[in-house]
Amino acid sequence: MIAAMRSIAQPVRRFPIIRSNFRFQPVEWHDSLPSTNTFLVERAKLDPATPHGTVVAARAQTAGRGRQQRAWVAAPNENITVSFLWNAPVAPEFVPSMAQAISVGICETIEAYVVPTIKWPNDVLVGRKKIGGILCERVGEGLDGCALIVAGIGLNVNMGREGADAIDQPVTSLALETGGAFVTDAVLLQLLDALVAPLNAWGSQGFAGIRDTYAGRSAAVGTPLRIRDGDKHTMGIFQGYSEQGALVLRLDSGEERVFYSGDISGA
Ligand code: BTN
Repeated sequence: MIAAMRSIAQPVRRFPIIRSNFRFQPVEWHDSLPSTNTFLVERAKLDPATPHGTVVAARAQTAGRGRQQRAWVAAPNENITVSFLWNAPVAPEFVPSMAQAISVGICETIEAYVVPTIKWPNDVLVGRKKIGGILCERVGEGLDGCALIVAGIGLNVNMGREGADAIDQPVTSLALETGGAFVTDAVLLQLLDALVAPLNAWGSQGFAGIRDTYAGRSAAVGTPLRIRDGDKHTMGIFQGYSEQGALVLRLDSGEERVFYSGDISGA
């Protein structure tokens, strides 16, 4: 009887706690692809046994895709355009914060050269200019309860002034920020290395595994923010993140509202 009562009172966790042991496969290079994300999504759909950690990088993308149906523009041979496959069990409530874990890994890679920050949910900026973006796409179910997720990363490495000016939002690159030229392949290897720890923390604990490092690189609690979601603009004071990494604002009315998507800017 007591056992039966306990099982009613306590939330039942449908997924066992999983100790993530993520590692990348050797990088599969392509001279040109329409989009590394599209390529890997198609492969994973055709073959759900595609290995966990498969990495596809392209020297050029002809139809790079960003969040919210935007294009991702990267001139050939200048920047990192890479996607990898997550093909392992993951609790469904962890999925929305995967890109936030990746944004932490990007920051840890480039902070040797610049001072990066994260703009919720997962834009990596230097100053007010974007240097890196992430696009995570759920492909469906893999085998044996695995989640199939393709994560694509664009990181501006050697983009020059002309390339940056051709993009319709403020962007920058490692080269523009430092005045140096970088070996893109070496930066990619540093990036993959830096991603392993935050991905394992996320894979084991979800947003809780990266909360502190993420929060330390993003807006300070108490910052006035404006969020645009579709046509709707809302202003409020930033209160922190929900358990799953959603943005919490206190509105003028005193209401605390949780946002799961949108574009933020200083109010
Ligand atoms: C964003 O809008 O910030 C996300 C940009 C993601 C771009 C990368 S580049 C590699 C991968 N392939 C794509 O087509 N998109 C992602």
